[in-house]
Amino acid sequence: MKLSAEFRSSATHLGECPNWDRVEIALAGRSNVGKSSLLNALTETRGLARTSKTPGRTRALNFFSVGTKVALVDLPGFGYAKMSRDDAAAISRLLDAYLTQRERLVGLVLLVDARRGPEKEELAILALPENRELRSYSGFATVVVATKCDKLRRSERAAAVARFTKLGIEPIICSAQSGEGMETLRRRIMAIGAGEKSPRASVIVDP
Ligand code: GTP
Ligand code: MG
Repeated sequence: MKLSAEFRSSATHLGECPNWDRVEIALAGRSNVGKSSLLNALTETRGLARTSKTPGRTRALNFFSVGTKVALVDLPGFGYAKMSRDDAAAISRLLDAYLTQRERLVGLVLLVDARRGPEKEELAILALPENRELRSYSGFATVVVATKCDKLRRSERAAAVARFTKLGIEPIICSAQSGEGMETLRRRIMAIGAGEKSPRASVIVDP
């Protein structure tokens, strides 16, 4: 399946989000987990979203149109210890506002490092859309991606997956580098774009 995307615009506050009728699916996760790389791998377009070895690369919401009805949104990463307190707070406010107030956001893809498994802060992000009190609210789709799986040895895989499944999460195992999981994720994203919901998350427990 081909998923071609085009950069539309960036936003540093909600008022700057595009005024369009696409449904948005956002890529969220810790700083440096590989959100921008995953977007490039999904769309097979090198350099579409800017990536970096240094965390804290993406500071704004970046909107990409996909096909005629869907958009992917590359979010700034959270949890980067070296970012100034003010910058971290600004990013946190932006994420919170976008995930709880953006009406046309229909799905969230949360990236988690396959080697670490989900941590508290990540589970909290997964819970945010649950707080949406939008009139249009009618279910919401969440997908958890265990990424950078190319860094797992074969012998580490089962334990890595278990860190997710014990929390009731069935991850899609991916690597932007090897391309593993990309086709599964593309299909899932397009299904969400076409209106598929997921059951209300029941996973929010302490890790
Ligand atoms: P912020 O914008 O800072 O939040 O980071 P990000 O989540 O967008 O991460 P980015 O895509 O910039 O990637 C961070 C680093 O991880 C880069 O050095 C990437 O090359 C590397 N990386 C991303 N995905 C993978 C992957 O699947 N496998 C491996 N081995 N490295 C990856
Ligand atoms: Mg990024």
